[in-house]
Order: sequence, then structure tokens, then C-alpha cells
Amino acid sequence: MKIAFFDTHNFEKETFDQANSLHHHFINFLDPILTELTAVLAKDHECVCAFTNDQLNEKTLDILAAGGTRLIALRSAGFNHVDLAHAKKLGLKIVRVPEYSPYAIAEHVVAMIQTLNRKTHRAYNRVREGNFSLNGLVGFDLHGKTVGIIGAGKIGKILAKIMTGFGCHVLLNDLNCDTNLIKELGCQFVSLDELFVKSDIISLNVPLTPETRHFINADTLKKMKKGVMLINTGRGGLIDTRALITALKTGLVGNAGLDVYEEEQAVFFQDLSGTILSDDILARLLTFPNVLITSHQAFLTKEALENIATTTLENITQFSKHERLINEVSG
Ligand code: NAI
Repeated sequence: MKIAFFDTHNFEKETFDQANSLHHHFINFLDPILTELTAVLAKDHECVCAFTNDQLNEKTLDILAAGGTRLIALRSAGFNHVDLAHAKKLGLKIVRVPEYSPYAIAEHVVAMIQTLNRKTHRAYNRVREGNFSLNGLVGFDLHGKTVGIIGAGKIGKILAKIMTGFGCHVLLNDLNCDTNLIKELGCQFVSLDELFVKSDIISLNVPLTPETRHFINADTLKKMKKGVMLINTGRGGLIDTRALITALKTGLVGNAGLDVYEEEQAVFFQDLSGTILSDDILARLLTFPNVLITSHQAFLTKEALENIATTTLENITQFSKHERLINEVSG
């Protein structure tokens, strides 16, 4: 099949080329992200391969369908950026990669927790400048702390296991209660309010839905322990960023690790080091020594990239052979 591959990054191109040796699709690697302005580039491509920040809204989908696209292969697990109802109306099929390495994301959460806790981001810069002072670098033992995980799905479960290994008490909140986690790890399923009140560290591992949008806001932040550490690898829209900034200024939130950000689309995945940052909210976040921002890189391991390429191309081959679409997303 002819594939228009939007928002191509160097880190994924080689892996896709390698995995494609088994499928023999024609992949047209394109630099721009997919928007209603760039959708025309997909003309005469039966398949569009899209990433997390591509904009699959009504207008974009109309242009794609008019240009002959029939399949949208998401090379991501999340699909909150796709207007599913409109895609269905146009007869466009959507497939995704439901799981590529939940370990990659769970392990990145731990990297963020320990960086913020032991302040290795500050220590690294200090010693390089000949400053060997330890003042301001005091951390805490993870052992014995309470970790609240919101979303006990594939990633949340692995994170629960890792944090239990550190000797933490793990509280979980999910729409469904997994009794195995209770039996195997001794975790507890609790209400959101109880999780907010009791947790020293809170990790967000739910998808972005109308129900979860801004569910970390001024009201919920007030319920948390003073000095709580908040880690978000879910989606930026889970947090009301302005409310988070206020909570950081008052010390209510002691540390924040953000791998995702509400307005990330305009900045993440790009080298903007030579330009002026126009996003004042992001600029403010970057001034806090206790805020660690990574550019949506939680998934970025060799294993995850290989799985993304393999599953995406298998999804496309299933479509081209008129087979059942195992990873179809239906609206
Ligand atoms: P999953 O679908 O296995 O688990 C999500 C869990 O959230 C489910 O157990 C579900 O019941 C629960 N949930 C949904 N709505 C909820 C609500 N209102 N309250 C409480 N629980 C709720 O998904 P997985 O693989 O664990 O991924 C979670 C999220 O992580 C994804 O939706 C995606 O947004 C994000 N993600 C981020 C990546 C990154 O690189 N930063 C990479 C991959 C995923």
C-alpha cells in the first residue's frame, strides 16, 4: 500500500524501514505534522500513518477521504486526537498500536520520580561547574512512601509492581478493580479522594477523555498532601496547567514531572533552541527547579519503537489483504 507517513522523526524512520522489509509497502516519509493545511500531501495515498500530535479533526479527515485515503494507521496507543465519529461517517478505518511497551512508560515514570526526588538533574549541572556542595539536594527514601496511581491499566499495573518493589504502599484508582493486583502485590483500590489525601507521589496513567480532562484542577489539588509529587505521562489535558503553576508557587505541589503538556503540539518533538518561546505557561513551568519536563519521550525505547513499527505495518497489511483488523478503533 502507498502510505503517507506524517511527522517523521529520525528516531523512527530506520526502524520502520527495517520492519517494512517483511511487508513491502511504499512509505512516503513526510516531515510536516498532519493538519488541514498539510493533509493535501496525502493525495492518492490509501493509507495515512499518523503520530500523537497530528490533528485528525473533521476538516483534515474530509481532505484525506477526498484524496483517496481509506485507512488511518495511528502509530500510537492514544486516539484522543482523532474525530472517530466523523471518520466513521466518511468510511475511514482507524487502527492503532494498543500496546508497544508499557514497561517503557512505567520505567520513565520511575526515572522522573527519582530525578526529582534525588535532584540528579541539579547535581549533574552543579558538579560540571565545579560546585560539589550538597546543599539543597536532600531527597527522601521511597521505602515506606505512599504512591497513588490513577489508571490501573497496562502501564499502571507495571508501575504498581515496580513501586511495590521499592517498598512503597500502592493505592490505585480505576473504573475497574483488578483483584489480582490486590492479591499479588497487596495494593489497595481506593476512591480518588482517598488517593489524593493519602499519596506522597501521584502518577497519572489514564487516557484523556471528557471525564478525565482537567481532573487535576484547583479543587482536586487542594485535597492533596502538601508537597505532593505529581507525575504525568498520560496526556497533557489531564492537568489544568494554570492551577498546577499556582500550586507549585504556594508549595502545595512539591515536585512535578511532566512528560506531556496541554499545548505540547506547538513545541514538543522540535528543536526550538534558536527561537523565542512564545508559550508563557510553558516558559513559567521551565523556571521551577522542582519541575522536570520531558518532551513526550516516555515511550522512547528501542523495544517500543520496534513494536510500534511491527504492529503498525501488520495493521496496514491486514487492511490491504482484507483481513480482520485486530487493532481497529471504532467510534
Ligand atoms: P490502558 O487502556 O491499558 O489503561 C488505562 C486505564 O485507565 C484503564 O484501566 C481504564 O479503566 C482506566 N480509566 C479510564 N478512565 C478512567 C477514569 N475516568 N478514572 C479512573 N480510571 C480510568 O492504557 P495504558 O496502556 O495503561 O495507557 C494509559 C495512557 O498512557 C494512554 O491512554 C496514553 O494517554 C498514555 N500513554 C503515554 C505515553 C507516553 O509516551 N507519554 C505512551 C503510551 C501511552
